[in-house]
Amino acid sequence: MEHTLKNNLIITLRDAVESDGAGCIEFIHKVNKESKNLMREPEEFNMTPSEESEFIRGVTVSPNACFIVVLDKDLIISTAGFSGNSLKRINHRVSLGISVLKDYQGLGIGRLVMETLIKRAIELKKSKMDLEVRIDNYNAIHLYEALGFEREGIIKNGFFVDNGYVDLLIMGKLL
Ligand SMILES: CC(C)(COP(=O)(O)OP(=O)(O)OC[C@H]1O[C@@H](n2cnc3c(N)ncnc32)[C@H](O)[C@@H]1OP(=O)(O)O)[C@@H](O)C(=O)NCCC(=O)NCCS
Repeated sequence: MEHTLKNNLIITLRDAVESDGAGCIEFIHKVNKESKNLMREPEEFNMTPSEESEFIRGVTVSPNACFIVVLDKDLIISTAGFSGNSLKRINHRVSLGISVLKDYQGLGIGRLVMETLIKRAIELKKSKMDLEVRIDNYNAIHLYEALGFEREGIIKNGFFVDNGYVDLLIMGKLL
């Protein structure tokens, strides 16, 4: 679906498809270089485009997962998704992740994508969404709180980055 951003840029938001494999890999390499808020150091992402396509195929057929891409023309500028588990005791829960390229941050993409993920999780009959975020990732925490996520706990020393430990905040939303 097309959306017009604050700066009048028209973007497309849609489910990832298998042919997005190469574009997603390019995107992940870029965000891992740009951001220290994510799990991987830049050199720690080694998936190939065909492995990524296979991952996307798995998500497409899963009743517990969703993977969304946002594009500026043909360029992937954001990916986001959630995944869960089929075990009965935790089948109601999904955990999410989101990233937007630096040049496109602050334009409303994060909010749009998060709203889409929440809606999709409800459609999949999920009733709890959670995430982990660096305690100093103020923009992300601001976004999550604006969408009704609550602070549920702290993972002390959750990240080791730049030769030091950083706590992670666990946030969750009842759907
Ligand atoms: C966190 C992230 C997903 C937010 O996406 P985004 O597209 O920039 O978010 P939005 O433009 O929808 O903005 C969401 C809110 O955060 C604020 N915000 C976002 N980027 C900002 C910036 N660079 N400076 C100031 N405020 C900012 C906005 O003011 C907005 O609040 P508002 O709706 O009250 O105005 C994005 O910054 C990102 O991908 N960062 C790097 C990876 C990351 O941290 N991922 C999350 C890991 S848990």
